[in-house]
Amino acid sequence: MEKKIAVILGDGIGPEVTQQSIKVLNAIGKRFGHSFEYSYGLMGADAIDKTGSPLPDDTIATCLAADAILFGAIGHPKYDNDPTAKVRPEQGLLKLRKELQLFANIRPISTYHALHHLSPIKSKQLKHVDFVIFRELTGGIYFGKKELSEDKNTASDDCTYTAAEIERVSHLAFQYAQKRKKKLTLVDKANVLETSRLWRRVVQEIAAQYSDVTVDYMFVDNAAMQIIINPAQFDVVLTENMFGDIISDEASVLSGSLGLLPSASVGNKTALFEPIHGSYPQAAGKDIANPLGSVLSSAMMLDHFGLTAEAKAVRDAVAWTLSHGFVTKDIDPINNYATTAVGDLIIDHIERNADGERRSNNASLNQSTII
Ligand code: IPM
Ligand code: MG
Repeated sequence: MEKKIAVILGDGIGPEVTQQSIKVLNAIGKRFGHSFEYSYGLMGADAIDKTGSPLPDDTIATCLAADAILFGAIGHPKYDNDPTAKVRPEQGLLKLRKELQLFANIRPISTYHALHHLSPIKSKQLKHVDFVIFRELTGGIYFGKKELSEDKNTASDDCTYTAAEIERVSHLAFQYAQKRKKKLTLVDKANVLETSRLWRRVVQEIAAQYSDVTVDYMFVDNAAMQIIINPAQFDVVLTENMFGDIISDEASVLSGSLGLLPSASVGNKTALFEPIHGSYPQAAGKDIANPLGSVLSSAMMLDHFGLTAEAKAVRDAVAWTLSHGFVTKDIDPINNYATTAVGDLIIDHIERNADGERRSNNASLNQSTII
């Protein structure tokens, strides 16, 4: 198979984690006989510095011409605490989501037994945690009219949803639930918000077409609590843009490290794959960031191409590094490996199709401590 992949390295640790994914994809290509061709585009603070725009038109064209997009991370502290900044890195990502109509953001939440001790949640609650958040990504308060009064003392963000916007992401979520444990939870705030009441109505109507899926409804404040006290109850969680942003960060800590979790954003055009972590500027360029969120995003990309055995080879390699302690500093502050070393070990596993028992003795791997 030949695939064109648009790569947006982005800001902070984006470039270094994405490089590991490219290495991994190339190893997969070699082992399974595929060719991946990469084209590069700018976005975020990096793009502002180089072009003045957080999303140059060239990048949109590169993305539209590709079969998938691999994206690193976005954001830079120099914009975060300046409420008057006219251009912001994040505008690039929001614009790209809108231009490509990436209306569904899929964030799988799972845990690895070897990392249970890192989770703020007790190990017994983490058993059987395996759910997927479907976050609507191109509507709601993120994209509503924004106003600031002339005296600058009153501000508003409009939250609007149409039934059609709710339907398209809901169908995807229901179809996904059919392939899993057949349970869908709509998270909303229907006791207060009109948009949430529309979500409930539309989801109830659609549910009739998926009679094998059990649907329940949960207010977002309760959902935030349930994710902590009983996360194993969830299968597919469907929610609007803003609630999805918040609960997916919350859910990500269950796994023990924010650096581990991948995501896919899909819609009518090219799909985009990115780790859910941010740009982590303090770690940029230090070769210490966890590349697994990006590498597992590449696995989601391979699934998207229909390459399920290839995706499994990536996930098996990742699981092997975790179970053998070949991990970055966020996971083990004492015995840890560099970003590039973890990338190399994953490739090593893919290339040799190792059985999970082998340990690498490669002295050039840059590990800080021999385990
Ligand atoms: C995310 C991020 C983005 C969002 C930011 C960077 C605009 O937090 O992908 O979750 O809020 O959607
Ligand atoms: Mg977020």
